[in-house]
Amino acid sequence: MTGQRVLVVDDEAKMQRILEIMLQRMGHEVACAGNGTEALQSLQSTPADLIISDLRMPGMSGTELLKTLREQGNDVPVIIMTAYGTIESAVEAMKLGACDYIVRPFDVEALELSITRILAESRMRRQNDFLRQELEKGWGEFVGNSAPMQKVYEHIRQVAPGKTTVLITGETGTGKELVARAIHRASPRQSALFVPINCAAIPADILESELFGYVKGAFTGAIKDRVGKFELADGGTLFLDELTEMPMPLQAKLLRVLQENVIERLGSNRSMPIDVRIVAATNRNPRQAINDGRLREDLYYRVNVFNIDLPPLRERKDDIAALAASHLAGQNRACRISAEAMVCLHKYAWPGNVRELQNIIERAAVLSRGDIIEIKDLPQEMIDPQPATVTTETGAYTSMELNPAIEQLEERMIRAALEQTGNNKSKTARLLDISERALWYKLKKLGL
Ligand SMILES: Nc1ncnc2c1ncn2[C@@H]1O[C@H](COP(=O)(O)OP(=O)(O)OP(=O)(O)O)[C@@H](O)[C@H]1O
Ligand SMILES: [Mg+2]
Repeated sequence: MTGQRVLVVDDEAKMQRILEIMLQRMGHEVACAGNGTEALQSLQSTPADLIISDLRMPGMSGTELLKTLREQGNDVPVIIMTAYGTIESAVEAMKLGACDYIVRPFDVEALELSITRILAESRMRRQNDFLRQELEKGWGEFVGNSAPMQKVYEHIRQVAPGKTTVLITGETGTGKELVARAIHRASPRQSALFVPINCAAIPADILESELFGYVKGAFTGAIKDRVGKFELADGGTLFLDELTEMPMPLQAKLLRVLQENVIERLGSNRSMPIDVRIVAATNRNPRQAINDGRLREDLYYRVNVFNIDLPPLRERKDDIAALAASHLAGQNRACRISAEAMVCLHKYAWPGNVRELQNIIERAAVLSRGDIIEIKDLPQEMIDPQPATVTTETGAYTSMELNPAIEQLEERMIRAALEQTGNNKSKTARLLDISERALWYKLKKLGL
């Protein structure tokens, strides 16, 4: 778990110090306050994930602090601590909503356990709250509870509140735009605009004026002033879709804007400060795009402050049934999918990911005419048990797609190396010239 922020409230400097050291060792950030009043002040500027408070202090006591927090509607978890452990004060603190009650002198291990448990619980609660709120806000378009998607939701939750620039990567149809919109809606910028611009769909020579706008007479055809997407997104989010398709000179200009937060409309020399959060997406591998001269490396570093990588559908097949069902429901179709057809859906590699799934399900629903989608309603290539193979020097592959072929080759090499080393993992890793860690990861993925 990543470090969280803990506020220690105690009038004794020595006790503050002991707890501070312990919490820092656990990887948390620590702030200290000498009594309840100071604690409330500190919370105003920087919220905490957990409070550990002494019960008796000069000025506002621990129970008073707890009471005030709850009255303010702040449900931050609080552990109460005291040297004068009496049943009555324990009961009072728990009634007021303390999470735990620790009597001094305390057992370090027990306190550590309590802290870890409480933080994990509250994190889970926050995640659920977050997802529920988002559902209520109507971006409950997200379907799927598989582990890789949970990670995506978690990342959205983490990154949404700030202004961090986000790069969303993932194959076509994996939901990159959905994630970009979700980040905006879950951010404090939600009341301003989410402005998408698709760098692949707009001709290169128009893209610049679309982004920055222009003043009348800036170029032939500029018959009046025009606001650009940057200005439009001021206070909100600018979604640069297919970033790698932006011409290189414009990428250089974009980088400057991101560093200086100022823009000028084309043909004008008046600078305007702008406050825009950038979310970018690409279905290319950014490293490859840099090598291919499609993406400036410096821009990549500026944009990729936080990366959300969307898993392809074939790596989260657990979500297929739910995605299919939700798409059918969205179309108002009271259709089921037969077990045999579901097997086909699971076997298929889904190069077009969720978008392809939606199209195939929609088509099948039309073809089925009844209330059950059967195998016959699916496209032939999904049913074909023996797809065409491609033969290369390294073996036969079921398609020209590079990734599955690389995986197949990788599996073969790993199996061969394991055989050669008599299943010795360190020797195998050395033989393959990869770290043991990487080997473990691959073995796990292959189920070996
Ligand atoms: N997790 C999901 N739950 C529900 N629907 C999803 C999910 N992911 C994607 N979709 C749907 O799949 C379709 C494609 O998603 P989206 O346009 O966001 O993909 P993309 O990654 O931007 O694709 P491309 O790279 O082709 O632009 C949309 O209709 C979207 O609503
Ligand atoms: Mg897209």
